[in-house]
Amino acid sequence: MPATQTNRIVTANPPGGPEVLRVETRDMPRPGAGEILIRNAACGVNRPDQIERMGFYPAPAGAPEGLGLEVSGHIEALGEGVSGFVIGDPLCALVAGGGYADHVLAPAGSVLPLPAGMELTDAAGLPETVFTVWANVFEIGALLQGETILIHGGASGIGTTAIQMAKAAGARVFTTAGTQEKCDLCRALGADRAINYRDEDYEAILTEAGGADVVLDMVGGSYVQKNINLARQGGRLVSIAFLQGSRVEIDLMRVMLKRLTLTGSTLRARPDAEKARLAAAVRRTVWPWIETGQLRPVIDARFALADVRSAHERLDSGAHSGKILLIP
Ligand SMILES: NC(=O)c1ccc[n+]([C@@H]2O[C@H](COP(=O)([O-])OP(=O)(O)OC[C@H]3O[C@@H](n4cnc5c(N)ncnc54)[C@H](OP(=O)(O)O)[C@@H]3O)[C@@H](O)[C@H]2O)c1
Repeated sequence: MPATQTNRIVTANPPGGPEVLRVETRDMPRPGAGEILIRNAACGVNRPDQIERMGFYPAPAGAPEGLGLEVSGHIEALGEGVSGFVIGDPLCALVAGGGYADHVLAPAGSVLPLPAGMELTDAAGLPETVFTVWANVFEIGALLQGETILIHGGASGIGTTAIQMAKAAGARVFTTAGTQEKCDLCRALGADRAINYRDEDYEAILTEAGGADVVLDMVGGSYVQKNINLARQGGRLVSIAFLQGSRVEIDLMRVMLKRLTLTGSTLRARPDAEKARLAAAVRRTVWPWIETGQLRPVIDARFALADVRSAHERLDSGAHSGKILLIP
């Protein structure tokens, strides 16, 4: 167990803007059966953390207290029954909460080894986006080599990861973003076409290009009907968030005529066993892409854990591209 017996976490009680975030001290957590105690090197900041901070995304039962869904660091202690890990090993992990901290508990099945050649702090930017993209683009969306995918929010943490993973899998990638600078980043990451949605019509561009087999959508609202319109026969439209709203009126005639699938999923509420299954698939397929340099987390900024409010102000501004990290 660590020499220090206290642990800093970040809470948002009552919910609100970045000003409600507080760094608080708790007792050091102890790993239960099947758990690993991690000494964090860095914690990833994600849009879902903002939604939780505002009080709209309650943590699942049993999650560690506090904000934060992904970390990198070293193994500090192993719970009963955990095998295949050694104290001191560098790793990254998906956690159900409490990631913004000095230490956090993770189920052993959600822990992945540090990919070869990857800087330890950068690895904190991998789990939430890689698991989400794997689950939604590759499992649910069933993207195949040679198919065309449209990724909305291409410069987001999710988007920058999805572009690189789709290219590594041999897909043709179209993406949308809100500034020229963000579009330039998407192209640098491998996107075949980056569309500035403020002055270009992505529905017309995709239709002209023959349509999309898969759409990864975090916007919802007016995008839903456009996604249906631009999809190819047999297309899969995968929703992972609704930044413009989740209640829409759509014409289902085109869904029927084109045999489309409208689907989506969330990651956090999945049971540990399901996350362990995803982790095994990610390790098998995505970790080699990292080790060959085909996938890198795009790091926008790093903030000290004590300066978590500034990290969330940057997240709220929407000016960031890729990931924001907290360093304990
Ligand atoms: N379902 C799941 O399991 C799951 C898991 C993780 C994340 N998510 C969701 O996925 C989304 C991305 O997460 P993240 O952490 O990568 O977020 P992020 O880095 O903060 O990026 C959010 C992106 O959304 C775009 N955006 C914001 N408002 C928009 C609007 N009204 N219309 C069009 N685009 C808009 C922004 O791009 P522009 O500046 O280019 O507009 C920004 O790049 C979030 O909504 C998050 O809640 C879902």
